[in-house]
Amino acid sequence: MKAAVLNQIPGELVIEDISVDKPGPGEVLVQTVNAGLCHSDLHFMDGQWSRLPLPAVMGHESAGIVQAVGPDVTYVKPGDHVITCLSIFCGNCEHCLTGHPNRCQNSDATSRAKGSAPRLSRGDTPVGQFARLGGFAEEMLVHQNGVVKIRPDMPLDAAALIGCGVTTGVGAVFKTAKIEPGSTVCVVGAGGIGLSAIQGARIAGAGRVIAVDMTPAKLETAQVCGATDVINAAEVDDVVNAVRELTGGGVDYSFEAIGRKETVEQVWKMARMGGTAVVIGMMPFGQKIEITGYEIFMLEKTLKGSMMGSNAFRVDMPRYCDMYLDGRLKLDEMISGRIPLEQINDGYELMRQGVSNRTVIEFGK
Ligand SMILES: NC(=O)c1ccc[n+]([C@@H]2O[C@H](COP(=O)([O-])OP(=O)(O)OC[C@H]3O[C@@H](n4cnc5c(N)ncnc54)[C@H](O)[C@@H]3O)[C@@H](O)[C@H]2O)c1
Ligand SMILES: [Zn+2]
Ligand SMILES: [Zn+2]
Repeated sequence: MKAAVLNQIPGELVIEDISVDKPGPGEVLVQTVNAGLCHSDLHFMDGQWSRLPLPAVMGHESAGIVQAVGPDVTYVKPGDHVITCLSIFCGNCEHCLTGHPNRCQNSDATSRAKGSAPRLSRGDTPVGQFARLGGFAEEMLVHQNGVVKIRPDMPLDAAALIGCGVTTGVGAVFKTAKIEPGSTVCVVGAGGIGLSAIQGARIAGAGRVIAVDMTPAKLETAQVCGATDVINAAEVDDVVNAVRELTGGGVDYSFEAIGRKETVEQVWKMARMGGTAVVIGMMPFGQKIEITGYEIFMLEKTLKGSMMGSNAFRVDMPRYCDMYLDGRLKLDEMISGRIPLEQINDGYELMRQGVSNRTVIEFGK
């Protein structure tokens, strides 16, 4: 099968012919129909994160159709439509059993045993799967606890976006921050994740939703998604002051959806007294941030991280599909381009330049 492989860091993706094994116990073989381009892969490709065994098939935001299942798989059957999610849960650990399956660290329980045949290979060389999914491939061989069954009338391009970006952004608002109706929100960075957070804020009933980005076209899409106010960070001297002026002192909830020290410190500062700043963006590995002790205790502010929107994806993703189909989640509006797998590096180049919202790969076209 064809797959986009990362062979070195930093490096571009190479389209290669890869062999995929038959599904083993607990495994599912999925025919990939669509995959979204998320910035997290790009952080690895550009060398900001390097802890990744190579070669690896990249991609972690995909949807498709179950082709075959291994022994002991009862959750899905061939023909079922599924979204994959990197929050593969064991179901037995403390995190899974206390309602936080996105924090599961027990990857041994959902991976092949060390020394057994690899899921993917290129000749004699085992090939890894980014996030244990490898979504930029015609087929994905994954553990059944990394898929969720969805209703068959859900279009698979929009479903792919739910696989990471939507679940991360909407979930950061619904599940990590748990915002109250009427509260004020600012989202810094209006890419796939930020636009999803903006939509989450609108659906959750935020009183005011401020979007910050550097590209006018992104800010227009942000308004379609529910932003009530927009700030072009390239045109104001100080983003924090601009948000404080708009809100009379700061927002109740702020979200960083870029992955930069400067913008994380901005969302921290723009949260008002008693407010919460949520970090979604993936800063370069080892990056430290600076906040003052005064603000965290005298102003009773909270700084939180959000991993994959604090999801329980088997419950959350079907709900997000319903919200798309009843018109509340605007996912078609977030798709800025559709490309074949062969053009994946071009898709990522548009993301580097900050001009795409979500680019979606169409397999088999
Ligand atoms: N926490 C998680 O579980 C999780 C999950 C998925 C992605 N992420 C991370 O979220 C971040 C966003 O991902 P994405 O796919 O939406 O990326 P993206 O590239 O589509 O969006 C980033 C946006 O930030 C804007 N931007 C860049 N610098 C800016 C600045 N200084 N001020 C204002 N805007 C600026 C860009 O114009 C762009 O619109 C990435 O770091 C990604 O790795 C985290
Ligand atoms: Zn992602
Ligand atoms: Zn677990």
